[in-house]
Amino acid sequence: MLTDKTIVLGITGSIAAYKAADIASQLTKEGARVEVVMTEAATWFIAPLTLSSITGRGVVTDMFEPDSQRTIEHVALGEAADVVVIAPATASLIAKLAAGIADEMPALIVLATKAPIILAPAMHANMYENSITQENLAKLKARGFVIVEPEYGRLASGGVGRGRLADTDKIVGTIKQVLGRRGDLAGKKLVVTAGGTQEPIDPVRHIGNPSSGKMGYAIAEAARDRGAEVKLITAPTSLPQPAGVEVIPVKTTLEMQKAVTKAVAKADALIMAAAVTDYQPKTTAKEKIKKDTPELKLELVRTPDILAEVKGDFIRVGFAAESNDIVANAKKKLEKKKLDMIVANDITAADSGFGVDTNKVILIDKKGKVEKLPLMSKREVADRILDGVVGMMGKR
Ligand code: CTP
Repeated sequence: MLTDKTIVLGITGSIAAYKAADIASQLTKEGARVEVVMTEAATWFIAPLTLSSITGRGVVTDMFEPDSQRTIEHVALGEAADVVVIAPATASLIAKLAAGIADEMPALIVLATKAPIILAPAMHANMYENSITQENLAKLKARGFVIVEPEYGRLASGGVGRGRLADTDKIVGTIKQVLGRRGDLAGKKLVVTAGGTQEPIDPVRHIGNPSSGKMGYAIAEAARDRGAEVKLITAPTSLPQPAGVEVIPVKTTLEMQKAVTKAVAKADALIMAAAVTDYQPKTTAKEKIKKDTPELKLELVRTPDILAEVKGDFIRVGFAAESNDIVANAKKKLEKKKLDMIVANDITAADSGFGVDTNKVILIDKKGKVEKLPLMSKREVADRILDGVVGMMGKR
């Protein structure tokens, strides 16, 4: 995904500087060329050697060297960058940038680049909440800087507050979102559902299914990386929230239906990857049901079919979880639910479907084209589905 991308990672002098090693590592693993640039103060917290060992490239520091190539380097790096990320960004760096002062390394690159700039602040909560810092950040935001808000938690000072560097997944997710701005889904609004809905029997029990949400989350992330504005309506899962995606948590089918109906109002496409529970208990017990009878009968009623009932003019993609006659059953669903495309998968195969990271699917469109894909990662499947969606945009 990040192959051929040049990411300049600026590190400034905060205790959170050590976390930049994790960011550099993740970006490098995903194929990016990571150029690390550090202030002298950052080198007190983490050694440049650590970062050059991770990225396999040189590290530019702001330490004074009489014959340094510094002036040329910041221009060259600024021009080469697809994105500049400063993580952690101290209060002092933020103040300097807001004032247009660039007297040390990462700041010099900010002035020298035309690439988008992401700042991930880290500092004591009092400094972060101070109106001077907030005004500086507002000024930078107005200039187009993307800010990855720090998190609430324990601070190096021992106190608790908002000031901890955002976690690596959030920073890397934001980088991908920013890099995707010119992607083939730029400006498009996608609604994606994920996970298995749950229908309560009593306060502690529900009817559900083993959906992990992985397929839907992979679609949401892939769409974000291609520039889409994504709303992810998700039933409970154990997956981390993807950065750069609007996450709308729901539990029951009715809640999901309500959220979908609202979200599709301005959408270009709806992709229903959620495993929706087809039946719900007729009544939900208010108190926990006791095991004081040898048998218990549950009366179930149908839940609404979200995909079949949703109204509006957008591309509709459904999934068909099948255990037999996969193509024929999926085609029936495509017609019945008036879909543009259906993604059929064989839920009996161990390496596809529920819970696993891979999937083997068949894409069927409304013209009858059937494409059998080999076993691939859910992320690759997500991109193939989105290729189909892009192909249908504006052609319906
Ligand atoms: N779906 C939905 N609402 C439901 C059930 C399913 O929106 N109440 C959506 C799913 O998200 C999926 C598609 O419809 O995109 C097909 O789901 P699937 O469970 O395979 O089919 P069902 O319509 O439930 O039919 P059956 O369970 O009888 O195979």
